[in-house]
This record gives sequence, structure tokens and C-alpha cells, in this order.
Amino acid sequence: MNDFNIRQLKDPSSLRGIEKLQKEIWGFSDIAVVPDHLLIALSHISCGAAHVAYYGDKPVGFALSIITQRSASDKIIYSHMLGVVKEFRNRSIATNLKMAQKKYAQENNISKITWTFDPLMTAAARVCFGKLGVKVTGFYKNFYENLRDTLSSDSSTDRFMVEWDSNCSIEKACDLSSIPDCIKWDLLNPAISSDTLNSEAEEIVCSVPLNWHTLKTDNPESATTWRSFTGQVFEKLFASGYTPTDFVCDFENNKGQYLFKKTGQTQR
Ligand SMILES: CC(C)(COP(=O)(O)OP(=O)(O)OC[C@H]1O[C@@H](n2cnc3c(N)ncnc32)[C@H](O)[C@@H]1OP(=O)(O)O)[C@@H](O)C(=O)NCCC(=O)NCCS
Repeated sequence: MNDFNIRQLKDPSSLRGIEKLQKEIWGFSDIAVVPDHLLIALSHISCGAAHVAYYGDKPVGFALSIITQRSASDKIIYSHMLGVVKEFRNRSIATNLKMAQKKYAQENNISKITWTFDPLMTAAARVCFGKLGVKVTGFYKNFYENLRDTLSSDSSTDRFMVEWDSNCSIEKACDLSSIPDCIKWDLLNPAISSDTLNSEAEEIVCSVPLNWHTLKTDNPESATTWRSFTGQVFEKLFASGYTPTDFVCDFENNKGQYLFKKTGQTQR
């Protein structure tokens, strides 16, 4: 993170730059951008925060927190957006933005932060499981139904919902040896898939490609197949009481592995 610093923006003039930053990160059209007047309002009424990572004067990463209440005693942060400009990725900027968000939660006596991420966006999975240590609380098929941005517009917006304890201090280490020798579910082989579900295994590993984002442009048919299979499989796994508890990257073989454990947890 050398050369970078993270600021919580409060004044309207700096918040105005966030519309442009969102377009740079996600390639959003005007309709998909969270407008600056909403950011200004959230900040003004202390219902949210925009944390921005700067490289010198250049904004290069963004996290949006919205404070909300699930019940009278359960104040949480819903983290609506996290993104880093492409050329500045893999320098722990997203992880540091999450740390700033966590500090903001602690300062506001909020113990939980929740958000969603796309299971096929494996860099996000790596950050969530390997660098932050989140818990998954649910799987939602086509969560947004129709997202008008270039990352999602041509496919189902499937999402894992996660929860992060703002008081947890340990970053989880992630390594291949943490995956036990258990049943491997070949998602592109439906015959194996149904056998696997009937096996009542305690742990199931599901592999996904690490380059889904580029597959979408280079091989859209394969990308669509992955989306469809993972959607069906994850839905079945959650319905059968399995929850993903870890994610491991095997870059050499372009393979990410979700470890599902039978927790019997019901979706929240
Ligand atoms: C997801 C995203 C926010 C991560 O930002 P970042 O600043 O690169 O994140 P970090 O540098 O903190 O961590 C990235 C990790 O993912 C790993 N990674 C990079 N590409 C990967 C891939 N295709 N699959 C799996 N892991 C990958 C990196 O090696 C790094 O892990 P490491 O530090 O152990 O080496 C960024 O990729 C992004 O803006 N994506 C588009 C928006 C998005 O998908 N947002 C998701 C919100 S939850």
C-alpha cells in the first residue's frame, strides 16, 4: 500500500468525483452510476461513508458503506460497492479499503458488515475468504435481475451474501493444504454432480475458472455454461445445507476451488 492513502470523503466537491471513478472501475453507463447527490446525502445524515483510495491525487479505489438496521438492536453496514481501477489491482488496495470500512464500523459501534459478491468473480472471492475471513450467509440467484453495467448486463446476477465481523482481528491465511481430500464436484459433468449430492458428504469442493471475466469476451458460450451450472449447483448445495467456507486459487491450472461444508445453516 506504499504510495497510496485512503480517505473518507465528506465534502460535496470531492464526492462529485466518485461518479467518474465508478465509470473507470466498472465501465458503468450513466444509468448504473450511484449519483453524487446520493453520496452527499448519505454522508450528510451520517448514514453512510465513501472511502476512496488515492495514488497521489488520483482516485483509484472506492468502497461505499450504507448504515442500516435489521432490527432495533442490530445496526449493520451494508457495503454496496467495492472496486479498484484495473491498472491498480493486486496491490491490496481493496483489502485496505475494507480495513478502513471496518474501522469506520468500529467507530460507529457497528459489529457486522454485509455485502454480496459474484461467485465467478474470483478475485473478490479471494479477498473475501482469503484476506478478510468472511462468513457466507446465503446464495441468491439473479439477485439484481437486471444490472445495467458492462460486467453483468449479459448474464444472471448470481451472488453470495456474506457477513464480516468488524471485531475479528485475524486475517485468514488461505493455502491449498487447507482443502481436505474430499469429494471433488466436476461442475461441467452433470452426471457426477447428481451422484455427489446424493452422497451426503460432509465437504464438497466446487471448481470454477479463475478467468471468467475474460471468458465472457473470449468464449461467451463457455462463460454462459459456467454461469448456468454454478447457479444450479450452488442453489442445490444451499438447499441441502451446505455453505462455502473457503476459497483456494490454483493459478497454474486456472482453477479456483470453493470448499462447501455441511453446516445445516439456513439462508438469511
Ligand atoms: C475484486 C477487486 C475489488 C479486488 O481489488 P484489489 O485491490 O485487486 O484486491 P487486493 O489486491 O486486496 O486482493 C486481490 C487478491 O486477488 C487475487 N487475484 C487476482 N486476480 C484473481 C483472479 N482472477 N482469481 C482469483 N484471485 C485473483 C490477487 O492475487 C490478490 O490476492 P493475494 O494478495 O493473496 O495475491 C477488484 O478486482 C475489482 O475492482 N474488481 C471489479 C469489481 C468487483 O468485482 N468488485 C467486487 C466487490 S465484492
